[in-house]
Amino acid sequence: MAISRSDALVLYGVTGDLAHKMIFPALYAMVKRGELKVPVIGVAFPKWSLDRLHKRITDSIKRAGGIDNPRALHHLLSLFKYVSGDYKEPGTFTAIKKELGGASRPAHYLAIPPSLFEAVIKELGASGLAKSARVIVEKPFGRDLASAQELNQVARSEFPEDSIFRIDHYLGKEAIMNILYFRFANSFLEPIWNRNFVASIQITLSENFGVKDRGAFYETAGCLRDVIENHLFQIIALLAMEPPAGRDYGAVQTEKAKVFKAMRPLQSDDLVRGQYAGYRHEPGVAKNSDVETFCALRLLIDSWRWEGVPWYLRSGKYLAETASEVLVELKAPPQRLFADCAPTNGRTNYVRFRLSPSAAIALAARVKLAGKEFIGDQRELYLSEEMPKQELPYERLLGDAMAGDGALFTREDAVEAAWAVVDPVLKNHHRVRPYKRGSWGPKEADAIISSNGFWHNPRPRETSGD
Ligand code: BG6
Repeated sequence: MAISRSDALVLYGVTGDLAHKMIFPALYAMVKRGELKVPVIGVAFPKWSLDRLHKRITDSIKRAGGIDNPRALHHLLSLFKYVSGDYKEPGTFTAIKKELGGASRPAHYLAIPPSLFEAVIKELGASGLAKSARVIVEKPFGRDLASAQELNQVARSEFPEDSIFRIDHYLGKEAIMNILYFRFANSFLEPIWNRNFVASIQITLSENFGVKDRGAFYETAGCLRDVIENHLFQIIALLAMEPPAGRDYGAVQTEKAKVFKAMRPLQSDDLVRGQYAGYRHEPGVAKNSDVETFCALRLLIDSWRWEGVPWYLRSGKYLAETASEVLVELKAPPQRLFADCAPTNGRTNYVRFRLSPSAAIALAARVKLAGKEFIGDQRELYLSEEMPKQELPYERLLGDAMAGDGALFTREDAVEAAWAVVDPVLKNHHRVRPYKRGSWGPKEADAIISSNGFWHNPRPRETSGD
């Protein structure tokens, strides 16, 4: 049976930050591609006029890159309607129903604080708006295992699983989709992609800015919930999963869920939490806050393929650079014929996935330097990608959700299995360690990785040998 496209989009939180920063530019891009033609009902609490909403949308698009197609902007604005109301009031949903007119398969996009998800989903059910509809839910999906289970249960009581789209915008990024492609479109990787050849894997997601105006939100989240349990775990799943039986949604999700289920739950000593200097003076932040703005951790996956291979994850605000990168470090040759092959004398061979700001895949191997001595240098074979006009993650994900394609979203069992891994350290952890802005986090983070070498700080291209 052909899956029908959503015939309206209801955007809850239309006056909020996420809509302004990400969603309006994505909708504009969809209109330009001819992919958005259905009514968009914006919903929020403030009593705005449609004219005010139009100004907000126009401003967002100007900031995001400018208005290069005034006709498309005009068309986008003409699709919008606005409903003001309280999410806990049934009257709000009666008003939405009226604006939906004849639409019979709307997509409800909850771009609102997580504390409101349950209330809105329940009202959607009570008002009949969940019937034949889809629901798109922003992260964070729950704040621990118990709340994720409860939210899943509420969502599942109103919507079937294939109508629930849990967003992790990392899954809509080109460079991250390329991990899946690169792993399973090539055959040379598979023989070495396991505990026999891989020594360790490290993933860094660093940002050179702070929590900005999101202090109050960050106080409820912290780095572990904000990016590790979702974005970084999704990257691990793509790197660690077994080949799926097919490319369909179910097959990929099943393999990803297995990775989370095989992860060993974290213990407090697996984790170093840091906090940047001055965080406690940010607006919305408690003066004695113990919330982490940095996390470094060591993780194990108890599976046939990965037994004993440590995965090192690191992320933080106000670090030295804004970049994300994966380094899959291979074992050193078993026989040290040449003195400079030893890992103490530089890195062993590796595969490097640069994910942002630029995207690239590099394979590093040693080659001999000219001369009498058998001394070499590590060189990268650089598989660079041209990414001139890629879709924005939100553009891709919204289009997919409205088309009913769930491949780039997360499934109930995977979400819960991922929470089960971090759950033990959400409360039981060491206090945060302070770190300087512009550094690579607290020095204690080095101890986490010291038995396998050192952290690799992302850089665009290897310039020197080691
Ligand atoms: C968001 C987090 O989910 O991801 C932010 O809430 C973080 O704190 C952001 O900055 C990183 O996403 P990107 O796409 O900028 O790497």
